[in-house]
Amino acid sequence: MAYLELENLTKHFEKSEGWFTQPTVVKAVDGVDLTIEKGEILGLVGESGCGKSTLSRLIMQLIEPTSGSVVLEGERLADLSPQEIRGRRCDFQMIFQDPYASLNPRMTIYSTLAEAVQTRGQVEQAELQNRVGEIMERVGLDPRFVRKYPHEFSGGQRQRIAIARALATEPKLVIADEPVSALDVSIQSQILNLLRELQRELNLTMIFITHDLSVVRYIADRIAVMEAGKIVELDEAEAVFDRPKSDCAKKLLEAVPKIQFRP
Ligand SMILES: Nc1ncnc2c1ncn2[C@@H]1O[C@H](COP(=O)(O)OP(=O)(O)OP(=O)(O)O)[C@@H](O)[C@H]1O
Ligand SMILES: [Mg+2]
Repeated sequence: MAYLELENLTKHFEKSEGWFTQPTVVKAVDGVDLTIEKGEILGLVGESGCGKSTLSRLIMQLIEPTSGSVVLEGERLADLSPQEIRGRRCDFQMIFQDPYASLNPRMTIYSTLAEAVQTRGQVEQAELQNRVGEIMERVGLDPRFVRKYPHEFSGGQRQRIAIARALATEPKLVIADEPVSALDVSIQSQILNLLRELQRELNLTMIFITHDLSVVRYIADRIAVMEAGKIVELDEAEAVFDRPKSDCAKKLLEAVPKIQFRP
């Protein structure tokens, strides 16, 4: 059984231009069929506006599909009650492009991580402190900084905090939506390395969204290329790089900088 299956998943938005014009339909996600195995890293690439973020919000059950379904470990998520969905929330986590926007500026790192740990259930103080310290070390942050606030960290460190928070709930599926796009190139490879290490260690299933093919080159097992709401190419990462078939993949490859970094 596949870990995650998307069946004809579709999300259309109605966009009205003005009061007297017919609303136009934006086919943000348009009939996506996709199967992801446990422990796989799938790179999801495509140009801005092709529907990558909408697809991830559909998988995360943050928005309702127009049609089609998300099947997680054989369970059709639409058939679950809101309560059951809430119970499964810890199993899937997202990491976003801008950690500053996704972290609560008024919460210390300790509160942020302690809250995330306890979504799985109450933990007593001493144990909680240990867990938070362990998680911080695991993502390369000094546990002595646990009482600091997000603004006291650099962009790369903040992304480590966001990664720590995602891991604190012990997720099975992580969707990272452009997790390194806002970072300096020198920091990008550190964060990519960290994500890959964690994925291996914890056998996470991961969807890695980016418009920059060079970012998924060394991290993804397979790459799905998305264009106008559809998956137009899906293959082993190497094959997409060496023998791109779709015009979209070719175009994205042309945009890859000639000087490659190797995380
Ligand atoms: N809530 C919404 N209401 C209306 N249209 C939307 C909404 N969310 C997304 N869209 C439209 O759906 C399309 C896909 O958007 P989406 O954000 O999924 O693209 P993306 O691939 O993530 O782009 P980017 O690389 O810029 O993040 C776009 O045309 C966008 O304008
Ligand atoms: Mg997006």
